[in-house]
Amino acid sequence: MQHYLLPDWFSGNIANFLEIKSRLPQRKRVLEIGSFEGRSSCWLLQNFLETDGTLVCLDTFQGSPEHTEIELSGLFDRWQNNVQSVRLPNQTCVAHVGKSYQGLAHVITQNETFDFIYVDGSHTAPDVLADACMTWGLLRVGGIVLFDDYQWPDTMGALNCPKPAVNAFAQIYADHGKVIISNYQLAIQKLS
Ligand SMILES: C[S@@+](CC[C@H](N)C(=O)[O-])C[C@H]1O[C@@H](n2cnc3c(N)ncnc32)[C@H](O)[C@@H]1O
Repeated sequence: MQHYLLPDWFSGNIANFLEIKSRLPQRKRVLEIGSFEGRSSCWLLQNFLETDGTLVCLDTFQGSPEHTEIELSGLFDRWQNNVQSVRLPNQTCVAHVGKSYQGLAHVITQNETFDFIYVDGSHTAPDVLADACMTWGLLRVGGIVLFDDYQWPDTMGALNCPKPAVNAFAQIYADHGKVIISNYQLAIQKLS
């Protein structure tokens, strides 16, 4: 049984995930940056990933600077228990614990590719830009990358929100990717 102690930042975005699902006939390999207690990981396992698919999760499991008000102990254990409680026998779910650029560097060296990549880790612009650029080569042509919190308010300045990074990335790859969702989140489908 799934067990969560902390706020649900996931359920409000399910419509975007369903839209992406409808555009992706193949959903065998999914990469998630930012897994927290496992709400999005579990939803992906139960509703999105194929029954013999693989979900790779990258997270420090230490929380983010905006999580100062919440108790973060036990995050990794809760994530692990939650995904184990829903994972189908032929599904694979692995975590690389550490900063996303470290996990991405590892995944890149394994020559892995993904059908869908969810970017919901650090929300600083430099980290989001690094995550975006490192994931692009991992995404198969036709695959989709989704950025969470695209519309996060920039009350802490441009360095501390995802939007400038996502906009720069979308502009750089404008000839190779198409923006297919732009609301609180932003999704790009890789064309070439
Ligand atoms: C908003 S939460 C993810 C929520 C999750 N996707 C969900 O919907 O339930 C952000 C996560 O990113 C992780 N994180 C923050 N900075 C990170 C970094 N530089 N590398 C990897 N993970 C990071 C935090 O530990 C936290 O679990």
